[in-house]
Amino acid sequence: MAPVYTLAGLLLGLASFERYALAAPTGTASASSPKSLLGYNPDNAVINGHTDDIQYEFAPGQTDSANIAAILDFNNVENPQPIRGSKGGLDPGPRTEEYNVLNPDVLAPPGTDHGGVANAQWPLGLSNNKLGLNRAGWSRQQNMDNIPSATEMAGVDMRLEEGGYRELHWHKAAEWSYVLNGSVRVQAMNEDGQTFVDDLNAGDVWFFPPGVPHSLQGLAGGVEFILVFDDGSFSEDNTFLASETFAHNPLEVLSKNFALPLSAWENIPPQQLFIFPGTKAPTDIAEQNVTGSAGIVPLNDSYSYHLSKAPPTHETAGGTVKIIDPTVFPIASGFSAAIVTVKPGAIREIHWHTTSDEWNFFLAGKARISIYAAVGNARTFDYNAGDCGYIPKSMTHYVENIGTEDVVFIEVLQADHFSDISLGQWVGLTPHQIVQDTLNLSDATVSAFKKEKQYIVQGDIPNES
Ligand SMILES: *[C@@H]1O[C@H](CO)[C@@H](O)[C@H](O)[C@H]1NC(C)=O
Ligand SMILES: *[C@@H]1O[C@H](CO)[C@@H](O)[C@H](O)[C@H]1NC(C)=O
Ligand SMILES: *[C@@H]1O[C@H](CO)[C@@H](O)[C@H](O)[C@H]1NC(C)=O
Ligand SMILES: *[C@@H]1O[C@H](CO)[C@@H](O)[C@H](O)[C@H]1NC(C)=O
Repeated sequence: MAPVYTLAGLLLGLASFERYALAAPTGTASASSPKSLLGYNPDNAVINGHTDDIQYEFAPGQTDSANIAAILDFNNVENPQPIRGSKGGLDPGPRTEEYNVLNPDVLAPPGTDHGGVANAQWPLGLSNNKLGLNRAGWSRQQNMDNIPSATEMAGVDMRLEEGGYRELHWHKAAEWSYVLNGSVRVQAMNEDGQTFVDDLNAGDVWFFPPGVPHSLQGLAGGVEFILVFDDGSFSEDNTFLASETFAHNPLEVLSKNFALPLSAWENIPPQQLFIFPGTKAPTDIAEQNVTGSAGIVPLNDSYSYHLSKAPPTHETAGGTVKIIDPTVFPIASGFSAAIVTVKPGAIREIHWHTTSDEWNFFLAGKARISIYAAVGNARTFDYNAGDCGYIPKSMTHYVENIGTEDVVFIEVLQADHFSDISLGQWVGLTPHQIVQDTLNLSDATVSAFKKEKQYIVQGDIPNES
């Protein structure tokens, strides 16, 4: 194959250069690279490359107009190339083809992309894992460190094995969580001394306000959940921990504070535990229902919502939307979210959010999002299961299923209710003459605009009539 030839030629060249270098006098640092290689010299003959011999295939649709931007599937395509319609060129260089297969719109962006839009995608598979003690679990995070424009929210993906704890702690940010797999016991106490304990399953949600101390423990089979914080600079390395609170107060003070002898503190952990194995939670949750005179956290302030048992809010031919916001879960007063399922070929319609950025996490499938960021700037990103996304307020976006399985993702807003402006509904409810004068569309086109939000649109591109 041609590229192998080229590569072999290159390697041979390097090898002979190194032999030369080795034979050169040693002793001084500069002796190994001869001065005669500097700049033009008729003796330094140029050997023409062979990049025009590169063998490759196009994905179906790749040579269609770049502005149509067909969905590209580079699976089973030999040597994918950065070409869209009439744009682009060959890539003979070093690369990891797996990235191209995962991100076809990054290798060959739609012709409608233009200018610069800040990065809006982060695969959690590239986040460093923080490993818990004795295999009790792990966690990894996305914050402004990896998506610099993600100022309003940050995310953490965490696993706790059965009996594994995320130790008693609190933080300055508010914490909203969606359970991905398994089940978990969550418990907390508020500033009034009201207590809370509950067990949650995959698809359920919890919330802890800033400063409210809580702990999490994996139940049978363990648990994985995604946490969203209302601060883009949040770091899980920077939380307030029970272990450290005890380790970093003078023992004399602890003894006075609790009216207990110094010997009470003999065995406290010398440093933080973070994620560690513990005694399995009792099956009967009532055994961990500790109450004082203030009783339990009242139901309307509950820190949990059993969302897995709620039906979808919107069901369309293209998928479903399940909304959870303070209208049903009041304690999470700033968090509005939707769990969205988009069927293959369908699209979460083009929309934007009026006052909040959007934090995304992809649970399943393969999707793309184009962000239009005003003043001519637009950029397309691809998302795979386990990726985070971030879309600043006001910027238009859609979520298109470009794979063969359902796309499932969470969109989280900082808002008192879940809302968006639908592009389709907007032009549908604007006087036709204004839309026609602006966009130069036919009567037939403008008359076909719908007056209702579609949320998710299913279907192929209709044929020309
Ligand atoms: C965990 O949950 C995710 C999201 O719902 C799902 O895609 C995945 O298959 C689940 N894993 C297991 C082992 O059940
Ligand atoms: C805890 O006890 C209170 C009564 O003090 C009761 O209302 C509540 O349902 C109990 N919660 C659990 C999880 O057992
Ligand atoms: C819950 O109800 C109590 C008393 O009825 C009220 O003070 C509190 O504000 C309510 N909480 C929410 C989140 O609405
Ligand atoms: C609208 O489109 C038609 C058909 O291409 C063209 O003739 C006309 O000049 C356009 N009008 C404007 C205002 O651009």
